[in-house]
Amino acid sequence: MKDVFQAVRVTDRVWWVGAIDWTVRDFHGYLTGGGTTYNAYLVTGDEPVLLDTVKAPFFDEMLARVASVVDPAEVRYVVSNHSEPDHTGALAATLSRIRPEKTFASAQGVKALQDHYGLGGQVTAIEDGQELKLGGSTFRFAETRMCHWPDSMVTYLAEEKLLVSQDAFGMHLATYERFDDELPAPLLKHEAARYYANILLPLSGFVTKALEKLEAAGWELDLIAPDHGPIWRSAPGGIVADYARWARQPRGNKAVVVYDTMWQSTDLMARAVGEGLRAGGAAVRLMPLSGSHRSDVATEMLDAGALLVGAPTINNEIFPTLADCLTYLKGLRPQGVLGAAFGSYGWSGEAAKDLSALLTDMKVEVVAEPVRSKYVPDDEVLRQCHALGRTVAAALADRG
Ligand code: FEO
Repeated sequence: MKDVFQAVRVTDRVWWVGAIDWTVRDFHGYLTGGGTTYNAYLVTGDEPVLLDTVKAPFFDEMLARVASVVDPAEVRYVVSNHSEPDHTGALAATLSRIRPEKTFASAQGVKALQDHYGLGGQVTAIEDGQELKLGGSTFRFAETRMCHWPDSMVTYLAEEKLLVSQDAFGMHLATYERFDDELPAPLLKHEAARYYANILLPLSGFVTKALEKLEAAGWELDLIAPDHGPIWRSAPGGIVADYARWARQPRGNKAVVVYDTMWQSTDLMARAVGEGLRAGGAAVRLMPLSGSHRSDVATEMLDAGALLVGAPTINNEIFPTLADCLTYLKGLRPQGVLGAAFGSYGWSGEAAKDLSALLTDMKVEVVAEPVRSKYVPDDEVLRQCHALGRTVAAALADRG
């Protein structure tokens, strides 16, 4: 396979030896429409070092890319920056195949590798802030807890001015292009934001701490090499600044209207709400869940100031697609969002009120009473929906 799956040179000493997953579409609930990559990096020298591995089915591909540069048996050290199985599923096979002298992970990483694979006894814990000279290169390590898991750490290669950042600064995007300057900037911006919104948003406090820690370390960054997606080399400071902004969760005048419908009554209400929002000066995104995935909604919510939700009542409950989406959004813990609810019904009519209660449970500030429509909305109900939109838009404008 090594003649087919080649490594990609990153610097004089460092090679990308990961794998491209063109088919994955679900990443624990996050729709990965563009696939992803599992990045691993080989640092050559007297004693080659492998930084991270790949998801289990891609072990052969990773090994072939390593073999295109060095005999895998020559790899002396392995570093595991993050224990989630998309980066460690191939670790046991890797250790069996190359038999490194030492394998390193954070203290929490050692525990996680034990709990996942029983590998803890083969892994040496690295101290936060530790520096190691391996194979002629200087490696510095910093724990970045909860970015993404308690075990997460990053590795800085001092001579290369290269940060291997594991999940941080990554994106789910399968491409043959390995560097940011080989891909359109708007695509990178969108996919990086989508990744942050769906993976890191609830961990924003930890992200801020990690960024402060990296800044305090004073590491000069020529390259940031995450474990997913392209390597940032054209202006690595840009994605760091984006993370700092996203972690603050700035809220604009955008309102996201998420809804589903059975017989188009709630659909008509949503369109009237959207018209009211627009008339009030808000930027509006209508997202019917028949055509929008929960992770699309999460992405739009990254910079939205308001969330309006609409559902019909079915069997005395909220239409299930809304329950799914709001459960997902609640877990992502967006801060500083305004909201309101609406929905149609036939006889019992719980959905709109229950949606409003769910928004409150999500810590969304509900700024208007829910609007309900018995069966098909008449002109009066549509005026109420329009007014609901205007009320939310006014609350957004008042907040500035
Ligand atoms: Fe890419 Fe948290 O794993």
